[in-house]
Amino acid sequence: MQTAKHLQQIQPSYIREILAAATTEGVISLAGGLPASDHFPLSLMAEGFAKMPDTPALFQYGETRGYKPLLDYLDEHYRVASGHQMLVCSGSQQGLDLIARAFLNPADGVAMEAPCYPGALQVFALAGASIHPVEQNPTGPNLSQLELLFASGKVKLFYAVPDFHNPTGVSWTLDIRKQVAALCRQYEVALIEDAPYRELRFAGQQLPLVASFCPERAMVLRSFSKISTPGMRLGVLSAPEDWLAPLLKVKQASDLHTSIPMQALLLDLLAHPAFPAYLRQLCGIYRERYQALVSALSDYLGQEAIVEPVEGGMFAWLQLPGRDPLAVAKEALAKGVAIVPGNAFFPASESPQAESPVSAIRLNFSHETPGTLREAVRRLASVLV
Ligand SMILES: Cc1ncc(COP(=O)(O)O)c(C=O)c1O
Repeated sequence: MQTAKHLQQIQPSYIREILAAATTEGVISLAGGLPASDHFPLSLMAEGFAKMPDTPALFQYGETRGYKPLLDYLDEHYRVASGHQMLVCSGSQQGLDLIARAFLNPADGVAMEAPCYPGALQVFALAGASIHPVEQNPTGPNLSQLELLFASGKVKLFYAVPDFHNPTGVSWTLDIRKQVAALCRQYEVALIEDAPYRELRFAGQQLPLVASFCPERAMVLRSFSKISTPGMRLGVLSAPEDWLAPLLKVKQASDLHTSIPMQALLLDLLAHPAFPAYLRQLCGIYRERYQALVSALSDYLGQEAIVEPVEGGMFAWLQLPGRDPLAVAKEALAKGVAIVPGNAFFPASESPQAESPVSAIRLNFSHETPGTLREAVRRLASVLV
C-alpha cells in the first residue's frame, strides 16, 4: 500500500540508523542521547513496583490529563505558571507531536535554532510546517535574525531548547531569555520551551524558564526520561488553560491517556526522600564524565579540540573546521566509535552539502564511563589527527 503523501517526504532518522550500527559488538557509542543506564534510580522505585498489585485501580483506564496525584505533585513542585495547566504525555516527544497536530496547518511557519533536535524537525516536517532556521550563538539564538523573522509575520511557533541544547549543549543567558520572551509577546509568536535536560546542571546557576517571562504565550515540555528512565516514556506539557483543550482532544484521539501504573511509579520516585540526593549524585557523575571527555579531547587532539564548554546536559559539540563530518562519522565507525555528524541536526534544505558540510559532530558523554570515553576519543583521534 502506498504511504500517505505527508509521510513520503520524511527522511528516515539518521541518528536511528547510526544507533543501529552503534550496537555492533566492540563499537563504543557516543552517538545516542542515552542517560547512564548503570545509574538508573531503580532501587528507589523498588517499593513502588512491589506494592502495585495491591492497587488494581491503577490498571484501570484513567483520565486523559494524567494521574491526579502526580499532576498535583508536579503542579506544586514545578510551581507551574499561573494560568497554566498540565497534561502528562508519553515522553516529551509526544507533547511535541500533540502541539504540532493541535496548532499547525500545512505551511504554517515554525522557527527553530539551527542546529536543532532532530526529533522536533521530524514532528514539524510531518505536520507539513515550513521550517525557519535561526542561527545559534554560544549565548542563545541570534536575536536580530529572530526579530526579522518574527516581524515578517511568517512564524506561528518558536521551538527552543534553552537549557543544555541538543546537540550543542548551549544554554541561553538570562538577558537572551528575557529578550526572546519580549519578542514572542511583541510579535504574538507562541514559544515551545523544551526542557528535557534542565535538571542535569553540574556547573553554574540555574536560570528561570524563558516561559516565566511570557507565560501567556508559552508552552513548556518537561521530560522524565533523563531523571528517571527513558523506557517509562513520561513527560509533561504545561500550557495556558485555553490552549489545553485542543491538546487534550488530540491526546485522547492518540492514546486516551499515558500509562497510569508508570505515572504512579514516577510519583513514588519523585516524592522519595532520597530522590534529591540521587539527582545531585547523577549530576556529579555527568560532570565527571564530561570532564573525562574534554580532557581526553585535549590530550589526543590538542589544538583541534574545539569544544564550547557546557554546564550540564549530555552533549558536547566538537567543531571540525574544514572536515566533512559525515565522512568522519563513517571512518570513526570503522575504527570502533559511533558519533553523530552535525548534518543530522539541520533541516533538510540546509543539510549535507558536499561543498559546505556542517563542520561539527555531537558527542554524548552521559552513557559511558570515564575510561571508555577516553578510549572512544583515542579511536576518534586516529581518524582526525
Ligand atoms: C531536545 C529534546 N526534546 C525531546 C526529547 C524527547 O524526550 P522524551 O524521552 O521525553 O520523549 C529529546 C530526547 O532526547 C530531546 O533531546
